[in-house]
Amino acid sequence: SDNIEFLKALPKCEHHIHIEGSLSPELLFQLSAKNNIPLPESDAAYSSIPALHQRYADFQSLDDFLGYYYTAMSTLIHASDFEALAMAYFTRAAADGVLHTELSFDPQAHTSRGIALTTVLTGLSAARARAASELGVSSVLICCFLRHLPVHESLVFFESEALQQAFASGEVVGIGLDSSEAGFPARGFEDLYTRARALGLRVTAHAGEEVGPESVREALDVLRVERVDHGISLVQDEALMRRVAEEGVMLSCCPLSNVVLRNVKSVADVPLRVFLEKGVRFSVNSDDPAYFGGYILDNFVAVQKAFGLSVEEWRTVVTNSVEGSWCDQARKSKIL
Ligand code: ADE
Ligand code: ZN
Repeated sequence: SDNIEFLKALPKCEHHIHIEGSLSPELLFQLSAKNNIPLPESDAAYSSIPALHQRYADFQSLDDFLGYYYTAMSTLIHASDFEALAMAYFTRAAADGVLHTELSFDPQAHTSRGIALTTVLTGLSAARARAASELGVSSVLICCFLRHLPVHESLVFFESEALQQAFASGEVVGIGLDSSEAGFPARGFEDLYTRARALGLRVTAHAGEEVGPESVREALDVLRVERVDHGISLVQDEALMRRVAEEGVMLSCCPLSNVVLRNVKSVADVPLRVFLEKGVRFSVNSDDPAYFGGYILDNFVAVQKAFGLSVEEWRTVVTNSVEGSWCDQARKSKIL
């Protein structure tokens, strides 16, 4: 319909996509066979591709999803696997009208099983170069730290030569914090974020996805993030919402993710209308598109179905998301 064509044509920036979260059941089975990485026989979900799709449609919680997410990424071995994964995402994103995208990745989930950071980065950067030249899609990389692992490990990994080199060269422009939110508060990662900000890195963190607004406040006060990933529980705290609006902190919202992971009952319960009314900036993103039933355009379509935003309101969303991106001003001007 006209509606979809309008949404498709909007110039999009994606801020919240875990590249490992774009690993489809189809690619998972391929990589498992190619790399000789068996999938858990004890879980009937891995008996076939359709069975796995069915299981992905029935996540009970963030942690339920994360178990499948970490299992699937264990089939990524070679730089060429990471390149193929990212290239498939870039191709799909370009078709959805994405002009700039900021890929989160979870290197600790790879180094912990013996895959070197340079292997991961070689693959992702090869895909990024091809996306720029073949698809006209610019991109940056965000190194996410896993909050369920001991804080000490994040500091050791942060200081590793390979990662410091990737920061110094500009190959990785920022850090994030992801994985289980409940029980793993942001305050443990204060030193990590202080060091990252001292290097001039961009900083974001998942907060307010499965925990209340106190988690968002902690990310702002302790980690001093410039963006918040998800942040939907912010709606429960009027004063904090005003502060976020005033300070221009951007939320990277992922409506389909919130429904599939049961943080809300339906897309209409993601507080995007309230955020618009209160001047809280947000972008609309896919999070883990292979797991949550949709890429960025599917999320735009779901938002439109739930809220019926006006052309003017979409302009606001799109403009804010370009302004909140971590590319240079020249690129932003070109996109808008
Ligand atoms: N890792 C991948 N997707 C995530 C999400 N939605 N929340 C926390 N950690 C994640
Ligand atoms: Zn996420």
